[in-house]
Amino acid sequence: MNTPDISPATPFSPKGQTENTSGKTPSEPSVVISGTGQYLPSKVLTNSDLTKIVDTNEEWILTRTGISERRIAGPTETSGTMAAEAARMAIANSSLQVEDIDLVIVATITPDQPFPSTACHVQTALGMRPIAAFDVEAACSGFLYILDIATAMLRNGPYRHALIIGTEKLSAITDWQDRSTCILFGDGAGAAVLSRSSLHKKKTGILDTTLGADGANGHILQMPGGGCRVPATPDSVSSRQHFLKMNGREVFKLAVKVMEQASLDILARNHLQAEQIHSIIPHQANIRIIEMLASRLKIPMERFFINLDQYGNTSAASIPIALHEARENGFCPSGTNSILVGFGAGLTWGATLLRWP
Ligand SMILES: CC(C)(COP(=O)(O)OP(=O)(O)OC[C@H]1O[C@@H](n2cnc3c(N)ncnc32)[C@H](O)[C@@H]1OP(=O)(O)O)[C@@H](O)C(=O)NCCC(=O)NCCS
Repeated sequence: MNTPDISPATPFSPKGQTENTSGKTPSEPSVVISGTGQYLPSKVLTNSDLTKIVDTNEEWILTRTGISERRIAGPTETSGTMAAEAARMAIANSSLQVEDIDLVIVATITPDQPFPSTACHVQTALGMRPIAAFDVEAACSGFLYILDIATAMLRNGPYRHALIIGTEKLSAITDWQDRSTCILFGDGAGAAVLSRSSLHKKKTGILDTTLGADGANGHILQMPGGGCRVPATPDSVSSRQHFLKMNGREVFKLAVKVMEQASLDILARNHLQAEQIHSIIPHQANIRIIEMLASRLKIPMERFFINLDQYGNTSAASIPIALHEARENGFCPSGTNSILVGFGAGLTWGATLLRWP
């Protein structure tokens, strides 16, 4: 199998930059996180519950993944409704009004429908002005992708406040007959309001993001059906093509590799050492992946924010939910640096460096 070439000698930033120059232009405004929010469905599915659905046991799930339970959306809860709830909380926490928001971007692999976009559903649910609204699909890295897109739009455009949301109803594409995948995933939404600000000191807020992708390894984590390649037919349904399929071992190996490289890349091009990072908010896929990343980066596990034991892997929602809980729990004090880092289907990956105002 091909592995992605992400060696330092091969810059994988789409901008082709090996050094962060953001913040060096005197007129460039800061982009800060002014509010965060989350929504988790109330229904809890425990490891014990899963033993009644597939041939597994609580001990296997806990030791192989670190997950104890996950949330499952009810029939009327969708990626759009959960996103709207998380968005309301993020806007309230930012002390802004819905009318202040100039842009909505949603990251999801489980949109309410192929079109219109889930962002347009959120816009309607919140009664927003006719502002730009669109979805981005980069799987579990999706929140980092939309964070970078929104940051660039805030820096360069007329926008002041952007609402970015990661939301997933993964239970809708989970194969509840496949014990190797159904134990991993959960539903939920996380949101953040990003604001352009000249009030904050230079070099605070979102400092830099690196993104990457390796489409040649897309087959190791995918949903074969539902697009134009395999449209929905009785055959596609009966052969279970509309569920997520995964080669867990390959995903595991590549996840550690790309998250390590993305973290090292963002440190190097911002001239920072690992000791200068106060907190890491990683994609919440598997505790063993995070432990391996911590060991390779030589950063103690105490500096990694973990909530996957309660929610499992919520794909694009995972980082923003963790970001919200990390802020609420005092994990990100003013003046400290954080790295958000993730990987997902595509393969895709990314890392964001921020300094809390
Ligand atoms: C899925 C994952 C937990 C499996 O752990 P693993 O240690 O790699 O386990 P394996 O797939 O090698 O399977 C080992 C054995 O456990 C069995 N097994 C798989 N799922 C099981 C379950 N839920 N309960 C009990 N046994 C299970 C397998 O059938 C296999 O049995 P065998 O040896 O008799 O063939 C792990 O590979 C993983 O987390 N990968 C990354 C997945 C991920 O993060 N995906 C999302 C990316 S955004």
